[in-house]
Amino acid sequence: MKEKITAAITGVGAYVPDYILDNEEISRMVDTTDEWIMSRIGIKTRHILKGEGLGTSFMGVKAVNELLEKTNTDPKDVDLVICATVTPDMLFPSTANIIAYKVGAVNAFAFDMQAACSGFLFALQTGARYIESGCYKKIIVVGADKMSSIIDYTDRTTCPIFGDGAAAVMLEPNFEGLGIQNAILHSDGSGVAHLHMKAGGSVCPPSVETVLKKWHKVYQEGQAVFKAAVTHMADTSVELMERNNLTSDDIRYLVPHQANLRIIDATAKRMGLQQEKCMINIDRYGNTTDGTLGLCLWDYESRLKKGDNLVLATFGGGFTWGAMYVKWAYDGDTMSR
Ligand code: UT7
Repeated sequence: MKEKITAAITGVGAYVPDYILDNEEISRMVDTTDEWIMSRIGIKTRHILKGEGLGTSFMGVKAVNELLEKTNTDPKDVDLVICATVTPDMLFPSTANIIAYKVGAVNAFAFDMQAACSGFLFALQTGARYIESGCYKKIIVVGADKMSSIIDYTDRTTCPIFGDGAAAVMLEPNFEGLGIQNAILHSDGSGVAHLHMKAGGSVCPPSVETVLKKWHKVYQEGQAVFKAAVTHMADTSVELMERNNLTSDDIRYLVPHQANLRIIDATAKRMGLQQEKCMINIDRYGNTTDGTLGLCLWDYESRLKKGDNLVLATFGGGFTWGAMYVKWAYDGDTMSR
């Protein structure tokens, strides 16, 4: 009988740029305060990529190089690179394509996945299927965004929220039943009105007018997104627990998208989890869009043990959302930075 293959995360790499934009500096740019940002969102600092000509692939390459080093992987052995991003270096070719080339993954094929803040989770699920099918043995999933390139730093309703960063995980076959167990993923195009970028695509190509109107920046109706995020992230995470017979005691960590501490708290509460079972680093990085889940795994890697049950949960523009049950495949303290 053929052995059952599961797709396990076998390493994590990440990168955040050096420049730290704190709430004091934001308060000099727009009419806001540290108190408002901390109490309404939960962010103290975010990292910003500075430097002419540096885009998302710059951070993705750094994250992947760390991953290759930590997992002792020859880049020539990588079969596939998937990059989840809403801020690609260029509309085409894909940022994954550029990252694969720059890290020397010359035998890999590569493509981008765009599902707003849920892109990394959707990409993990896609990568897992390629592994489970027996097609490929080493897949890198990168989540990376240079959000500062699409944020209007005169808009106080969006500029405190976002930061830049990248994270990458390796997916490999596992024969002990560890790794990605189950996922519930959703999309609802009716959400487009509440969170989008108006111009730059085929509906409204760039023009002087679109630039002057700041239509190449994030447009968000915060309250509508907040309500949908709380409902969907919590409902789906609870549904995933029920489907997999998981109680809150069974779960080692919730790995939530880092968009707003209040959304994270509401999700954890619905799942019956105390805050210490919740990976949280929004205070330091803000919302890095496709970087958030991988940056959480990176920060908490040393605390993770083989067999730990994790629930990854996300919500983003589109709307897109989902939850994934992962059985962690290695003792993190043997691998972490
Ligand atoms: O990752 C993608 C998914 N995105 C999200 O999950 C984001 C979801 N939404 C949110 O996190 C929250 O809605 C925000 C953080 C964006 C806003 O928080 P809120 O508690 O929903 O605030 P609000 O939009 O209801 O605004 C309340 C007040 C308003 O003033 P008035 O109309 O009551 O006078 C805003 O103008 O707060 C004002 N406000 C601010 N005040 C100080 C909005 N932004 C700021 C600010 N500083 N930065």
